[in-house]
Amino acid sequence: MAAQISGISSACSVASFKNQSPFDSLSSIRSSTLAFSSNLNGNLSIKSLETRTSQKSSTICSAVLVEHNSEQMEVDTTLSPRVNSVKPSKTVAITDQATALVEAGVPVIRLAAGEPDFDTPAVIAQAGINAIREGYTRYTPNAGTLELRTAICKKLKEENGLSYTPDQIVVSNGAKQSILQAILAVCSPGDEVIVPAPFWVSYPEMARLADATPVILPATISENFLLDPKLLESKLTEKSRLLILCSPSNPTGSVYPKELLQEIARVVAKHPRLLVISDEIYEHIIYSPAVHTSFASLPGMWERTLTVNGFSKAFAMTGWRLGYIAGPKHFIAACNKIQSQSTSGASSISQKAAVAALGMGHAGGEAVSHMVKAFRERRDFLVSAFRELDGVKISEPQGAFYLFLDFSHYYGTEVDGFGLIKDSESLCRYLLEKGQVALVPGDAFGDDSCIRISYAASLSDLQTAADRIKKAILTLNTPSNI
Ligand SMILES: Cc1ncc(COP(=O)(O)O)c(C=O)c1O
Repeated sequence: MAAQISGISSACSVASFKNQSPFDSLSSIRSSTLAFSSNLNGNLSIKSLETRTSQKSSTICSAVLVEHNSEQMEVDTTLSPRVNSVKPSKTVAITDQATALVEAGVPVIRLAAGEPDFDTPAVIAQAGINAIREGYTRYTPNAGTLELRTAICKKLKEENGLSYTPDQIVVSNGAKQSILQAILAVCSPGDEVIVPAPFWVSYPEMARLADATPVILPATISENFLLDPKLLESKLTEKSRLLILCSPSNPTGSVYPKELLQEIARVVAKHPRLLVISDEIYEHIIYSPAVHTSFASLPGMWERTLTVNGFSKAFAMTGWRLGYIAGPKHFIAACNKIQSQSTSGASSISQKAAVAALGMGHAGGEAVSHMVKAFRERRDFLVSAFRELDGVKISEPQGAFYLFLDFSHYYGTEVDGFGLIKDSESLCRYLLEKGQVALVPGDAFGDDSCIRISYAASLSDLQTAADRIKKAILTLNTPSNI
């Protein structure tokens, strides 16, 4: 039996009655006076709690009152302020909602997740199977096997023009971990992390986890969602520690042209404290004539850039959980240290599979170019389908597998039986309920005027989804609704 009780401090953010129970009246009496140490071993009576109140200075924001062997016991459920400062992922929330609808028999088309719909290429899967069969199932070095780090160095040299040695690489359980570790490794409390918007949902939250402050620099659809170097220059201070660039971008699919990166590099070079994380995980999913440029390859940028890449997207290996970071040894050794006290080395099996992935040829060879060709067809289809819709603004993606459409023209519309569509979240809810298509609201990515469509789905699903979205949107245009 457990009852949630509220706390006394106005600074507390988690304080509410949740369940009704015989303890509720008791806890409501005490909720205005309860304060004690979180050292809660032993059975506590009300009297002892009150005694502790006067003795200890720490405050309980939230607690559960439980019954154990007929005794009452209080458990402090207060969470770290660090956790309370982090927002839960909207991408995950909408994906879960869509999954629940599918499980209830509603034929929802799920275009919310950032995951290729292809199987991992057979040669990679086979390398993983061989690793298991051959007993390659033990811990690897913390930073990754020398075999894989050597293969990564070769890839970075040949495809990106970047020279690294294996001790300048750390392999992790996904690029997500690589980015978090890098932020934790270089940011001090109060440092600023510059995040151009629209951004991948995790960047600002990771900055918060490191007790740093995310500074969001908006880029508009008319600029193809690319950061304006002048805006960057105007926002840099002595607290600016990191700039996070993502090209090709999630959620916009924008690709930074080399000239623009050079302008950004000239601004960065004026600030000795400023480092750059260059997230290049969508590098291979790019549509010519767009060309990928690694930020670290620009003059003077190698020394201050941490290049992140991984296997999830281009090689359709999301579940294998493998990413990596490359950079100057001083920073990479710090990432390695953090990893050594958290997860240790990534999966030995995945690392063998990743060696096979890097052996498939330049930019992933035939298997990857086959997937990129399919993504391009889908992008072309969606772009022309949505160009037919009045009021929708489009910046044609040059890479990744997302379309970030500006639907703000339709905000302010009242729909019978649904209510007001006032922002990207209500529009996505409407499209889920009315059109049975799961999309992600742009406000999760720092731009409320847009919604994100992931086109990592079959062309026939995308055709059905586009029809449903258009139909649902056209309903909004009827005179009774506008
Ligand atoms: C921009 C970007 N960076 C990093 C990641 C993390 O990828 P993973 O942890 O699967 O390697 C993602 C995944 O969605 C992403 O979109």
